[in-house]
Amino acid sequence: MSTSGTSLLKGKRVLLGVTGGIAAYKVAHLARLMVAAGADVRVVMTDAATRFVGPDTFAALTGNPVHTTVWDEPGTVLHVRLAHEVDLAVVAPATANVLSKLAQGIADDLLTSTLLESRCPVVVAPAMHTGMWDHPATCASVEALEARGVTIVGPVAGPLAAGDEGMGRMSEPEEILAAVEAVAARSTELAGRRIVVTAGPTHEPLDPVRFIGNRSSGRMGVAVAAEAHARGADVTLVLGPGAVTPPAGLHVMRVETAEQMRDAVVSAAKDADAVVMAAAVADFRPERVAEGKLKKEAGPPEVRLVPTPDILKELGESKGDRVLVGFAAETSELEASGRRKLLAKNLDLVVVNEVGREGTGFGFETNDAMILTRDGDDEPLRTWAKRELAAAICDRLAKRFG
Ligand code: C5P
Repeated sequence: MSTSGTSLLKGKRVLLGVTGGIAAYKVAHLARLMVAAGADVRVVMTDAATRFVGPDTFAALTGNPVHTTVWDEPGTVLHVRLAHEVDLAVVAPATANVLSKLAQGIADDLLTSTLLESRCPVVVAPAMHTGMWDHPATCASVEALEARGVTIVGPVAGPLAAGDEGMGRMSEPEEILAAVEAVAARSTELAGRRIVVTAGPTHEPLDPVRFIGNRSSGRMGVAVAAEAHARGADVTLVLGPGAVTPPAGLHVMRVETAEQMRDAVVSAAKDADAVVMAAAVADFRPERVAEGKLKKEAGPPEVRLVPTPDILKELGESKGDRVLVGFAAETSELEASGRRKLLAKNLDLVVVNEVGREGTGFGFETNDAMILTRDGDDEPLRTWAKRELAAAICDRLAKRFG
């Protein structure tokens, strides 16, 4: 936490979105802290927010006009101007309503329209009653926002509006400031770097309607891509079929088969600084693809499988200065298998996933994994949120390039 003269916010243009919760009064202090840290703060308030704090309070604290509607500046398209002007956005307090609208892409006021148009890093500080915070609808909104790289600060437990107590209180302004500073620092860490990330499964066709596939959701790779993008990298995401929707701002190449993934990765990797192979690439494919649908009446088909290209191995064989990151799904002897893969595929880092136990790995929000590297910057086996694991990978990429 720092508001020192060397603040990471010095000269940064920060959009401060204030929505309608009682914690809005504390956000006046957050505005002050950000200004003291050297930020140029532009406040946008929702109608409901103005019921709690007057726009003049924020105007006086920031020295900038406060906007409340898209019609505030006749002759300019205000939400577009604001969206393109700012380096970073903070929404505090963030109501359940605004979280849901941001998650869905609803743009029915100045704040949500600006945030939909903007591609800057976003920090949100939720504040609401416990029932609203715990509601599956809010949980889904938060999950969607996190998957897109939005930083969520809090909430914490404590006194709430209407004399209640519980989870849902907005984090203190100092804590929000620290999160904003951390995001500001991270947002340029990978600037100028080209990073290729693969995600999702591959589908290897048997006939025009059937394929051999796997349960990968693509969440892990998409989390890495979102995190690298949030840190300023130019990210190409090579995405397998049926995987989760990637956030905006990435170059997305959609592929179906391992062969197509290989071609896309090899071409994208040509001028890349790093390749992160998080995709669950099929190891085998049917040797022949039937031209027509295989008929039940013909009886069970004999399917001969042949190996697919090992993309990562191929990249490892012509590695150059490129940083290579692989994933290894293992059921036993995690460390030994991971170390073998690190050497065999000429990788800089391998994430060894423990798979086969209930509730982890493919399709889940968490991963039981260890990080093994060439330079000893390892992490022992533990349970990670996928975005947290993505951050640990990007930390190591940044260190390598630093
Ligand atoms: O050797 P194994 O398949 O366990 O290695 C997994 C790693 O190799 C993952 O990073 C995966 O994306 C990559 N891989 C690949 N091409 C394949 C199979 C796996 O690049 N055909």
